[in-house]
Amino acid sequence: MKVTYFGHACFLIELSGFKLLFDPFIRGNDSAKLIDIDSIEADYILVSHGHDDHTADLVYLSKKTGALVIASWEITQWLIEQGVNNVHPMNTGGKRVLEFGEVTMTFASHSNSLPNGRYGGLAAGFIIKNDLATAYYSGDTGLFGDMRLIGEQYQIDVALLPIGGNFTMDVSDAVIASKWIHCNKIIGLHFDTFGYIVIDQNDAIKKFADQGLQLNLLKSGEGFTV
Ligand code: NI
Ligand code: MN
Repeated sequence: MKVTYFGHACFLIELSGFKLLFDPFIRGNDSAKLIDIDSIEADYILVSHGHDDHTADLVYLSKKTGALVIASWEITQWLIEQGVNNVHPMNTGGKRVLEFGEVTMTFASHSNSLPNGRYGGLAAGFIIKNDLATAYYSGDTGLFGDMRLIGEQYQIDVALLPIGGNFTMDVSDAVIASKWIHCNKIIGLHFDTFGYIVIDQNDAIKKFADQGLQLNLLKSGEGFTV
């Protein structure tokens, strides 16, 4: 499994030859300005929630790549109105077996509206797994106790967690989350993109390391192989 970071909460996970893109937000993100949006390929696009910093390039890349978009029922209905018809609706706790393996839509403690202000369903995270690897992409979320259940149910090889605070978990809460999901390999997201979520990166890495956990802070465009 290879994870490539495109800044903020946008990642590409390559698993068994399939490309899964999460929360596309490239144009308008200063930290992703070196990424050529038209070089991004995807077989699937997974959307955690409808906020702009997760969907700014969703319609564009959905149409350009022809990827199957996996999102809440409400987001998929909105996408159809935007002319994106290759969609797969899910809801919290639902599982689906697709070509690359299994996807589960998990709870996320966050709000969810669409760019036009419409209700987007519950905010979500995703677990993707096959025989080779399991990844947890929590989406924007605060710490919530049912992360313990995720840790009981899955053997997570790598977790992509927000660490920027203010709108989501901060570093301290993400350390607790990592313990609850029994995962010691973490990739941080949702930090340093704008003023509310600026962190001290060295201090963050140390706070994880003090608990025996590895926090990876990727540069935009950088990859991580699990
Ligand atoms: Ni959000
Ligand atoms: Mn966000």
